[in-house]
Amino acid sequence: MTDANDNSFLALFLEPVGKYLADETVSEIMINGKDSVYIERGGKIEETDAKFVSENALRAAASNIARSVGRPLDEAHPRLNARLPDGSRVYAVLPPLSRIGTVMSIRRFSKEALTMERLLECGSLDDGMYRLLRGLVLARRNIVVSGATSSGKTSVLNALSSFIPEGERVIVIEDASELRLQQRHVVPLETRKADRNGQGETTMRDLIRSALRLRPDRIVIGEIRGGEALDLLQALNTGHAGSMSTIHANSPLDCLRRLETCALLSGIEIPLYALRAQVAGAVGAIVHTARLPDGSRKIASVAEVLPLDGGEYRVRELRAWRTESVSPDGKVRGGFAKIADPTFLAEAAAYGIEF
Ligand SMILES: Nc1ncnc2c1ncn2[C@@H]1O[C@H](COP(=O)(O)OP(=O)(O)O)[C@@H](O)[C@H]1O
Ligand SMILES: [Mg+2]
Repeated sequence: MTDANDNSFLALFLEPVGKYLADETVSEIMINGKDSVYIERGGKIEETDAKFVSENALRAAASNIARSVGRPLDEAHPRLNARLPDGSRVYAVLPPLSRIGTVMSIRRFSKEALTMERLLECGSLDDGMYRLLRGLVLARRNIVVSGATSSGKTSVLNALSSFIPEGERVIVIEDASELRLQQRHVVPLETRKADRNGQGETTMRDLIRSALRLRPDRIVIGEIRGGEALDLLQALNTGHAGSMSTIHANSPLDCLRRLETCALLSGIEIPLYALRAQVAGAVGAIVHTARLPDGSRKIASVAEVLPLDGGEYRVRELRAWRTESVSPDGKVRGGFAKIADPTFLAEAAAYGIEF
């Protein structure tokens, strides 16, 4: 494994699904026990006829992958979340947690990152949204990308980051490195799990604190999942404008509630109204992503966060995707609509941004 892009060892361990590993059009391989393998291609899930000879063979493959990245996967550690040298992600769950034998999901790291221009070409957003997003980044609004799992959050965050002007110092914090910023002045930091003896853990919260001491112009956080939300909110409210992150949520409004819930996980006591004011004050805009029934991904909504009203969150949709019809074969028709002008139009004009 000297070559960082060599995943041939993966093909060796996972011979039954080798042809999907080699197929650039396959984005995810899902192994559900020895007899059932699904793949995702072009946003759609397909069943395959691939099979492993036995549960033991499948389990051995999972163990070998774990060993090759120096992580435990056994009775005592029955779940594995690993990044392979080529950037692919492997998630595995062993029986008896999984009731159908060893389960594994491999998300291939696409060699070509999706740029904003590429997203525009494939209809994930329109020109108006493109200009709006660019304006939000240039005007240093803090942005949270929300959406369901695999709706395209990380891809959109990565594309958004391309609007950050060259010359700014960007600190990137991730659990497992997925983002690839194009700027020259980027400092990527990655969390670390505790070793077998429970030593050496470095969390998102630790890294956010480190980032603040490293003179960031912007902080980009791969995904907010827990108490680090509070550290981030505090950083944003103390002047680190123009930061970006993603969070799992069902709508722009739900995104704010999820941030609040995550901040509460920090265990730090803070009155609810104060926390809500921090959330509403810190987040400038929410970019909500969705995977439609035909497998296509869209920026479903771009919303601005308004001040609290009677202690409740308020958002204002600026632009959104509107589905008009879904044909029997699942094809989705619709378009992007402008709903409102952003409140920072005058400020945007000062930056020379036009909508
Ligand atoms: N706009 C898009 N068009 C087509 N495929 C996309 C788009 N956005 C993301 N994808 C693909 O969808 C998968 C999940 O994307 P990702 O950004 O990792 O989602 P999330 O972070 O929400 O889990 C990846 O394989 C990615 O290449
Ligand atoms: Mg993601």
